[in-house]
Amino acid sequence: MKKHPLMAFVLPLAAAVCLCALTNGCALQTSSESESHMRQIKIGMTLYRQDDTFISTIQKNFEAIVKNREASENVKIIVNILDGKGNQGVQNDQVDKFLSQGYDVICVNEVDRTAASVIIDKAKSADIPVVFFNREPVEEDLQRWEKVYYVGSDAREAGQMQGQVVVRAYQSSPQAVDRNGDGRLQYVMLEGEQGHQDALIRTEYSVKEVTNAGVEVEKLANETANWQRSQASAIMSRWIEDLGDRIEVIFCNNDDMALGAIDAYSAAELDQLPVIVGIDATPPALEAIRDRTLTGSVLNDSKGQAEAIFNIAYALATGSDPKESVPELDGRYVWVPQKIVTFANLPS
Ligand code: GAL
Repeated sequence: MKKHPLMAFVLPLAAAVCLCALTNGCALQTSSESESHMRQIKIGMTLYRQDDTFISTIQKNFEAIVKNREASENVKIIVNILDGKGNQGVQNDQVDKFLSQGYDVICVNEVDRTAASVIIDKAKSADIPVVFFNREPVEEDLQRWEKVYYVGSDAREAGQMQGQVVVRAYQSSPQAVDRNGDGRLQYVMLEGEQGHQDALIRTEYSVKEVTNAGVEVEKLANETANWQRSQASAIMSRWIEDLGDRIEVIFCNNDDMALGAIDAYSAAELDQLPVIVGIDATPPALEAIRDRTLTGSVLNDSKGQAEAIFNIAYALATGSDPKESVPELDGRYVWVPQKIVTFANLPS
């Protein structure tokens, strides 16, 4: 086909007009988007149970970080924190609301960590990133989408550190710990929720650490008290009756349960306590270490975890790559370091 001579002008002109419209459109959209991101971001957070002592410390730290960052960066950060009340159905509804209300990012402390795929698939279709924390989804779930992250502490490290507290107590005073002098440590184990990575792995590695140090152990009893002080106290009261002073060490998957065990001893009016170890280093546990009722704990760094959750969430909500602002990221995981806490290094 023969070209009309005018086409030589019209075509490039039309192309230029289109390109201009497109780029202007883009530029306008980009600047209005980034302006609105500068002014306001919305973070939705849901907790497996708001009344959990350790989780409530993450919440407090998170809220404090939000306040600071709002002031320092001149951004309005809307945070909505909801209580999943131990019910995955309730939590799924909360997630649905966040997604339908156009939150920029959601942070999820799952009720049932094996149910993550449902949340991830919904978030993916809404293109709203997710930061899971404390209750670790299985790895295959995390691989479902590249905008899914996890922040937590290494359960194995926590177990090993707890075991080290027991080893040190034993080595510094063998007769006081091995009360019957049989060369073995008779222990009971208060476990967290069944199926929680921190319960399974802490249980395994705390005892392994002791036996790896060449100290023999004998398990007298174990039971789950679901992280809770009152449940632990009831179980411990039973064990005190059944096992009495045969108990030489009480391993507890967290501090609240360790405090429950201590409550049971004081209710039984027994003041000669065995070695009792917890994990979390919550404020009431630090008090118990100061009182010498709790032998030691492991710092489950709620401030460090809240910071990592916030930094990842903030990057995602403002459209940047979290890798650039969160150097601790290992793939899409942040493992916040822990620390042994005993009377010797109590924070003042
Ligand atoms: C653990 C913590 C427990 C409890 C649990 C909830 O990491 O040690 O105290 O908070 O998480 O998932």
